Amino acid sequence: MSFDTVVKGGTVVTASDSFVADVGITGEKIVALGQDLDPLNGTRIIDAKGKFVLPGSIDVHVHLELPFCGTVSADDFTTGTKAAAAGGVTTLIDFATQDADKGLMEGIRNRMAAAEPKVCVDYSLHSIITKWSDEIAAELPDVIEFGIPSFKMFMIYKREGWQSDDAALYSALATAKDYDGMIMVHAESEGVLNVLIDKYLKDKEKWGAYAHTLSRPSFTESEAIQRAIKWSEVTGGHLYVVHMSTGEGADLVKAAKENGVPVDCETCPQYLLLNDEVFKGPEGHLYATCPQIKKPHDSERLWKGLVDGEVPIVATDTCTFDKTQKAMWEGDFTRIPFGMPGVETLLPSIFTFGYREKKFSLNHLVSLIATHPAKLFGLYPQKGTIAVGADADLAIIDPEKSRTIDYRQMETNCDWSPYQGMEMYGFPDVTLSRGAVVAKDGKFVGKLGHGRFVKRTRGGSL
Ligand code: URP
Ligand code: ZN
Ligand code: ZN
Repeated sequence: MSFDTVVKGGTVVTASDSFVADVGITGEKIVALGQDLDPLNGTRIIDAKGKFVLPGSIDVHVHLELPFCGTVSADDFTTGTKAAAAGGVTTLIDFATQDADKGLMEGIRNRMAAAEPKVCVDYSLHSIITKWSDEIAAELPDVIEFGIPSFKMFMIYKREGWQSDDAALYSALATAKDYDGMIMVHAESEGVLNVLIDKYLKDKEKWGAYAHTLSRPSFTESEAIQRAIKWSEVTGGHLYVVHMSTGEGADLVKAAKENGVPVDCETCPQYLLLNDEVFKGPEGHLYATCPQIKKPHDSERLWKGLVDGEVPIVATDTCTFDKTQKAMWEGDFTRIPFGMPGVETLLPSIFTFGYREKKFSLNHLVSLIATHPAKLFGLYPQKGTIAVGADADLAIIDPEKSRTIDYRQMETNCDWSPYQGMEMYGFPDVTLSRGAVVAKDGKFVGKLGHGRFVKRTRGGSL
């Protein structure tokens, strides 16, 4: 058998197994897994002895060049996907917002037109529903057939015109159930949030960026999660809670799952690695994201959820704003652009603080950031695993190598990092996307536009 590339002698790690093997790649696919695969003259050999060979990570929550909070997120489809490649993420899922009264497909086509010439790794989109109607309900099956079976709705962001009320959420879940789609929800309670925001605005100079956390106590997330779970329970529609930041949320999802409610969720590295003390420093406003970073006991509970299974996915909610953009707040916590960089550090952060700190095995890490995302979002087995027939999306890691995080050495278009100065392991030496080497030693070396839209299948489950 001839191969274009053989990844030689590494420890191949999937969600269920670890074994020393060569990975034979022809074109874009893995075509052989075995001992001593015989390369011909001209076959590229990547020496992986002593290294881990992981499936490329899948980040299911990324906002590149998103118009938001009076600006546009600073990582565009180029820098964001270069950052992904450098960090071992070979597929990401961004979002396409419903185009006002024109429907979902219009927003999807616009977003794809923006992404296609720029993307450096594979991508898909979730469809954001901002205005539920009978027409949108009728469009849902077409969008699913197109390869986008997941729809996001926001319980907040009235100001942006993105908010969905309970009627919309309930109806969307009921409709999604009929077509095996999934409804993703940003769960926070807008009404109560606004009462608290008004309260802290009165004294905004006193509280500074810490008011962002004071005005968003845990119950503003957990109340909304509880409500969304109820709509999932009574409709049978598959619910997915995005960027879950609270321990209470993990408790609610666990209880609902035990009662047979079709609910899944993700958390993000910022909720696992950081806590609300970050808002107290002179640069506290940089960390403002939505929902905001919570307390150490929330992080602990979320880690436990990752171990025990009620939180099956880590995604980043990458929505990069640089220091100049963050400075737009001018002391008013309601005007901070919400979001931070993250896709580049997804794999290293979970490798370092999950696997290396012995919270779970490397197989479990693979399930959290590759296999579960692929299964739940309709990418499996094309992506999310290492198997004959799968796309040759790989991250090759030297387990002994670490880096001190420094935004200046990263591909992200950001002039700060939430993890600046932290030592992290697990940056890939080499990242392959569909057989092509796209990053080496933390630098993008692939081709602009290499990435492709990946059509996803409906009815994903773990
Ligand atoms: O602060 C965040 N997370 N910005 C992106 C939009 C969202 O709510 O996911
Ligand atoms: Zn959100
Ligand atoms: Zn988001």
